[in-house]
Amino acid sequence: MYLLAIESSCDETSASVIKADGTTVENGETESPSLQILSNRIASQIPLHTVYGGVVPEIASRAHAEAVSSLTYKALSEAGVSLSDIGAVGVTAFPGLIGALLVGVNFAKSLAFANGIPLVPVCHVYGHIAANYFTHPDLKPPFLALVASGGHTSIIYAKSYTEFETIGRTRDDAIGEAFDKVARVMGMPYPGGAEMDRIAYEGDPTALKLPSAAIADDTLDFSFSGLKTAVINHLNTLSQKNIPYVPADIAASFSSAVVSSVVKKLDMALRRTGATRLVIAGGVAANSHIRAALEEYCQKHTNVKLYLPEKSLCGDNGAMIAAQAYFEFLRGTRADTTLNARATMEE
Ligand code: KG4
Ligand code: ZN
Repeated sequence: MYLLAIESSCDETSASVIKADGTTVENGETESPSLQILSNRIASQIPLHTVYGGVVPEIASRAHAEAVSSLTYKALSEAGVSLSDIGAVGVTAFPGLIGALLVGVNFAKSLAFANGIPLVPVCHVYGHIAANYFTHPDLKPPFLALVASGGHTSIIYAKSYTEFETIGRTRDDAIGEAFDKVARVMGMPYPGGAEMDRIAYEGDPTALKLPSAAIADDTLDFSFSGLKTAVINHLNTLSQKNIPYVPADIAASFSSAVVSSVVKKLDMALRRTGATRLVIAGGVAANSHIRAALEEYCQKHTNVKLYLPEKSLCGDNGAMIAAQAYFEFLRGTRADTTLNARATMEE
């Protein structure tokens, strides 16, 4: 079947068409799914928000409203299909910026009901996880997933394609948010995560001693706010005293603290759940230091197989929403005209 999906939860409008097949088994799950991206159009709003140093929700909603319709028709034409070929419309319904989400939800609702196509609401965070099914056709639940982006940092146990348990989370800032804020204080344009990743190679990871973001208890929770504040306070102190610093050293020290915190809590989570597959997802899953550290971890712990998403599918995109929509569709999830967007994970 063909699925069309719309994503508009933050600062990227995206529309994608995928072809999905697989055998549905008794409990609504699927066996041997095969997912193929036919189009994955992304209209990034980053240039609009960079001048403000972060996402401005009202500007985001307006830009989604301007882009969503033409982007969708471009995605359909690139895929070589028309609306009458589409078996389900997926849409990100939560979590995210409420005004931004409402643009996608209302557009998808109109498109689906005007054309008699089933509408499937999708959780953005689970969509990030589903991006991995394109890269790894052999990936099957159960597995452990780290979802790390500008808005989310969670350790999630995927029991099946559609059943998830969040077993660890950040208590304050998301990893990407912390990367972006440290980058901003060093004068890098928003979002600075990828640039921090790049310059960290040129710096000394031991230059600055930083607190761990792994909360020192038996939970699987993080706190990135303390780590971020420690770096920013250090930079402010240096600037007050007119002492120069090496941005690469700061980036390397910060990355090293992030990496060791992530590895520590994932190690705890893997032991606790007995999971033998580890997946990472979300914009921060593109971070090469995190990827390398987890590769090293899995080389040492040969009972755990690592699944890394393609870098181009780490950030927000419609294809990941279409992939998750497929599994939700098979499971029987449908929305009616009362579908609403939600800012948070929980109702
Ligand atoms: O998943 P995403 O596109 O949007 C959200 O759902 O938040 O993630 C965007 C986040 C930004 O904070 C960005 O700086 C971060 O992902 N990011 C990175 C890298 N590439 C993107 N952070 C660290 N290293 C990277 N290579
Ligand atoms: Zn995201």
